[in-house]
Amino acid sequence: MDLQVVILAAGQGKRMHSALPKVLHELGGTPLLAHVIQTARTLSERPPIVVHGHGGEQLMAALGEEELVWVEQEQQLGTGHAVLQALPSIDTSADVLVLYADVPMLRPATLEQLVAKRAARNAELCVLTAVLDDADGYGRIVRDPVSDTLLQIVEDKDASDAQREINEINTGIMLMRGEDLHRWLPSLENHNAQGEYYLTDCVEVAVADGHTVVAYTADDAHETMGINNRLQLAQAERNYQQRLANQLMLGGVTLADPLRCDVRGSLSCGKDVLIDVNAVFVGEVVLGDGVTIGPNVVLTNTQIGSGAKILANCVIEAAQIGEHCEIGPFSRIRPETRLEAGAKIGNFVEVKKSHIGPGSKVNHLAYVGDAEIGSKVNVGAGTITCNYDGANKHKTVIEDGAFIGSDSQLVAPVRIGRGVTVGAGTTVTQDVEPEVLVISRVKQKTISNWSRPKKTPKN
Ligand code: UD1
Ligand code: CA
Repeated sequence: MDLQVVILAAGQGKRMHSALPKVLHELGGTPLLAHVIQTARTLSERPPIVVHGHGGEQLMAALGEEELVWVEQEQQLGTGHAVLQALPSIDTSADVLVLYADVPMLRPATLEQLVAKRAARNAELCVLTAVLDDADGYGRIVRDPVSDTLLQIVEDKDASDAQREINEINTGIMLMRGEDLHRWLPSLENHNAQGEYYLTDCVEVAVADGHTVVAYTADDAHETMGINNRLQLAQAERNYQQRLANQLMLGGVTLADPLRCDVRGSLSCGKDVLIDVNAVFVGEVVLGDGVTIGPNVVLTNTQIGSGAKILANCVIEAAQIGEHCEIGPFSRIRPETRLEAGAKIGNFVEVKKSHIGPGSKVNHLAYVGDAEIGSKVNVGAGTITCNYDGANKHKTVIEDGAFIGSDSQLVAPVRIGRGVTVGAGTTVTQDVEPEVLVISRVKQKTISNWSRPKKTPKN
């Protein structure tokens, strides 16, 4: 099927009370509009047509890299008017699917059902409907009692009391032929309670033309939920997270509590991954087989190798963590860090833009920045790489098997040779050749008969 998708995104979203256009608010860390574009792409190879209103520049700036056809609707005169603006980009030979940018949870599978339903019933127009307990505010579906096909969609504000009792509603999503749209849209009028051009009036026009209009009813009302305010945004976020959590669990991931796992991007997991409560995954995160994630961990754009353990309260960003590494509790790993297999980063350690070799350990209270650390190195408690001279960053190199005593400062640029021992409390300012002991420490003195200062009495 040759399908063109039109995404309506021109509404102002006043009820968000926001400087940001509604469709740029995020669901699972991705703008609402981007979710709908993603759905459109899975259904059609043609670039989606996005109808935008004011703030179009903001939308384009946010989604600029996407291949899209942007159409402006200067004044929001209704959904019919919105699609009318896109008409010059709509082929008469194509089928057209209208989506709303503020209905981000819709699954491609549901839309495939919509397409199948129209084909099966040999209908010209197919509307996605939902049955709601509270249909207040929505357009209601009026069906022919005999054939069960659709006769009309009546907007809440135009409905009679009897019609308001109908609980089958228009989700706004519909599928028709481009050719029909080209005929129907210019004929729409705005003689209704809101003085708007209603896309929904296409139903009556089609029926008058002798066409068949059918509906596919979505079984999950969460999917077709529109977002108008921040309360609905939060509800949608919960539903979205629940959907992702279900996918993870059914794919073999153990979640300590599916209500306390947030994925703001994509998370892919190997076998037997265990995720404790309050984990947040941002951007693209990949967890290998048997990885365990402790409570309160935030992982951003990071890959974690098989068997690695991330203990409680770690924040890791743009890092590559090797197999069987152990990190935390309370570690911060900053961008461009790479840990090789079996490396260990302990509590209150910050690592930035560093490469840490296999089996090396930085266990307590250290700062490691711009460092190249070999294998089996031990970096003692309180060690600091002094990488910044106030103007530029410099590199620290620590070769295989070196032992850095506690509370040492390594003033970069500096190289510590293979197998070197740095005595505790040393300030290393020059390169150290392999296999030696280096120590810079004021000689300890003892002063006998020392009496401590006494407090001066107050009068
Ligand atoms: C519309 C439907 C209604 C349906 C409801 C579902 C019509 C006439 N009514 O009502 O039957 O139950 O959606 O939520 O279609 N938009 C534009 N330009 C405009 C007006 C709207 O792009 O001039 C876009 C909005 O950004 C939004 C979508 O169209 O994405 C729906 O607009 P909205 O105002 O929410 O429609 P409703 O009046 O609620
Ligand atoms: Ca709406």
